[in-house]
Parts: sequence; structure tokens; C-alpha cells
Amino acid sequence: MKHVFITGTDTGIGKTITSAWLCKHWQADYWKPVQSGLDGGTDSQQVAYLSGALVHPETHCLSKPLSPHQAADIDGIKIQLSDFALPQAQRLVVEGAGGCMVPLNWRDTMLDLMKHLGSCALLVARSGLGTINHTCLSLQALKAAGVPVLGVVMVGEQGRLSNAANREAIEHFGEVPVLAELPLFSDTSPKALAEFSMPERMVRALESL
Ligand SMILES: Nc1ncnc2c1ncn2[C@@H]1O[C@H](COP(=O)(O)OP(=O)(O)OP(=O)(O)O)[C@@H](O)[C@H]1O
Ligand SMILES: [Mg+2]
Repeated sequence: MKHVFITGTDTGIGKTITSAWLCKHWQADYWKPVQSGLDGGTDSQQVAYLSGALVHPETHCLSKPLSPHQAADIDGIKIQLSDFALPQAQRLVVEGAGGCMVPLNWRDTMLDLMKHLGSCALLVARSGLGTINHTCLSLQALKAAGVPVLGVVMVGEQGRLSNAANREAIEHFGEVPVLAELPLFSDTSPKALAEFSMPERMVRALESL
């Protein structure tokens, strides 16, 4: 079984779109261990719609769109690392909540969940100005925690002057490859995601897991 843990430099950075795209092209199942916020649909529902992937049930579904430690408190739930076990799948895309320092409780963060699951991380970052700092800080946190990193996916408008330079700086200072650059889709549809094929370096990296 191969799996990859999708984390991001921020919430709302494109982890779910990236996860759906990976599920579609890598023919993987999807699992969101912790969903915070249920109004307006869940990440699992979005990935199922966009990719048609088999979706495994969340371990914790929390009603408020807040950091899991706070959302769990409000729902009267105590999240523990021992609650989480990887579902059975040949290939699995796991999507974290927010970024890698997001707390699950007052002791453990997403980094601890990655370690608990024995995951390799794929970091989703935006492509535009400011990304070098956020991306390199996230990579340092992953490294310090001893979580292996497969690479970075940059998400944003394509053809911008700064993108190539940002990519080069992330690879140099972060010491990891940028495996793909996802465009901003004008219509985020199953067809648009299916038509944007996976670069060869991303295919090779996933197969190396
Ligand atoms: N490549 C893209 N093209 C078009 N829209 C995008 C793209 N990436 C993200 N978006 C939009 O930005 C918003 C946030 O993206 P997404 O839900 O993937 O973020 P996330 O990192 O999964 O957030 P969360 O931390 O809530 O799980 C969504 O409305 C999504 O449709
Ligand atoms: Mg998401």
C-alpha cells in the first residue's frame, strides 16, 4: 500500500483540489481524517464529485469550521492520535486539516498525525508572492519533526513573472522538488481536473513511495 499525506502552507490553499487531482490521475482512494466544518459540504464530498475516487469515512467530523482542537472542544470530543488508523487501500491520498502546525488537541499537531501514520508529506503552496517564506517555514517544520517530504505542489495563476523564480527558490532553500504547478481552473470541474495531466516527475515521485 502506498499513501501520501497532503498538507499545506495554509488553510484554503488548494489541498482538496490537489487531492482530487491526485486521486484522479494516480487512481487513489481518499481519506480526510479530521473534517472541521460541515456547512457547505465536506472535503470528502468535493473529492468524490471531482475525482470519482472511493472515499473512506472521516475519523472525526466536527461541526464548526475551526482548528480541530477548538472545534473538538465545542463538540465535546477529545481527539487522540490512537483514534487514527490508515484505511486499507492500494493507493491512498490523505488530506490534513489546515497546515502542519494545526493542533488536534493541546499536545499533538498535524505533524504528530503524519508521524503516527508513517506518512510522507506533499506540501501544497501558492505560487505567488510570499510563498517562499511560507513554504520554506513549513518545510523546516516537517524536517524538524522527522517527516519525509515527497515534494511541493504550487497552485496559482500560471505565466506570472514570479512563479519560476519562486519555484527555483523553494527548490534551493527548501531542498525538495516542486513536483507540479496546478493552474487556477476557471471552472473547477471533474473534466478540468481530468484534462490537466500529471507531470512525469510527479508520477515518478508517487511510484517511489
Ligand atoms: N487550482 C484551483 N483552481 C481553482 N480554484 C481553486 C484551486 N485551488 C483552490 N481553489 C479554490 O480555493 C478554495 C480553497 O481550496 P481548497 O478547498 O482546495 O483548499 P484547502 O487547502 O483544501 O482548504 P481546507 O484547509 O479548508 O481543507 C476553494 O473554493 C477552491 O475551489
Ligand atoms: Mg480541504
